[in-house]
Amino acid sequence: MITKIIAHRGASKLAPENTMYAFVLAYKLGAEGIETDVQLTKDDVPVLIHDETVKRTTNSSGYVKDFTYEELKRLDAGSWFSPEFCDARIITLEEFLKWIKPKDLCINIELKNNKIEYNNLETIVYDMLKHHRLLERTTLSTFNPNSVKRLVKYQNNIEIAFLTSKRNPNLVEYAKNLGANALHVKYRLVNQQLMEQAQKQNMPVRVYTVNKFKRMAHCYHLNCDGIFTDVPYKALTFRKVFQFNKQ
Ligand code: G3P
Ligand code: MG
Repeated sequence: MITKIIAHRGASKLAPENTMYAFVLAYKLGAEGIETDVQLTKDDVPVLIHDETVKRTTNSSGYVKDFTYEELKRLDAGSWFSPEFCDARIITLEEFLKWIKPKDLCINIELKNNKIEYNNLETIVYDMLKHHRLLERTTLSTFNPNSVKRLVKYQNNIEIAFLTSKRNPNLVEYAKNLGANALHVKYRLVNQQLMEQAQKQNMPVRVYTVNKFKRMAHCYHLNCDGIFTDVPYKALTFRKVFQFNKQ
């Protein structure tokens, strides 16, 4: 089993997160998958942005849910990172799916509905993935246990991951009971015991956000199914070194 390298919000250390710049770069650097975050606009367009508000990553302020997509796409989503990215824009999930479809990349769409319960977000995203025939290589993830429950009806067609940063000795059982078939955990939660429990239940475990060599080594050693990293090139190069040293 080889630990998959998944670019967290794209290659977000080198380009503004969740923009085409970060996604294209992740692909060019050899990432094997891309993780991105989805919120809903006022007119129910799923868009890729991590925060509920546009303040941190654009030149404006206010909640994503209070902008129409027409309004949102005019914002500068790159200058906060560096002036050379001033033409970066917030993109729709649809644009992202069209771009990724011909590429050999796995997809993780994180539903950002743990602070705002967007109406129908699960169905909107699922239907779009189905329309683009991308269900098979996509994982839908969320921190919101109620959202996992709402996703259960799609369980046989798509992988559903429960995301968590909270310690729980019965985490695997808890996630399984919610209806999840994968587990995405914060780095501090991953250990041999969790991996064994998850393996017994046939549940892949992926870990966020792994940027340091020492942490990468720990995840590779434990045979985690994937790591989310802001530095996919570093993770890929180090994985080669790690495997070589193991021989
Ligand atoms: O999906 C893994 C990770 O992205 C979860 O945390 O806050 O970076 O979206 P966050
Ligand atoms: Mg995320």
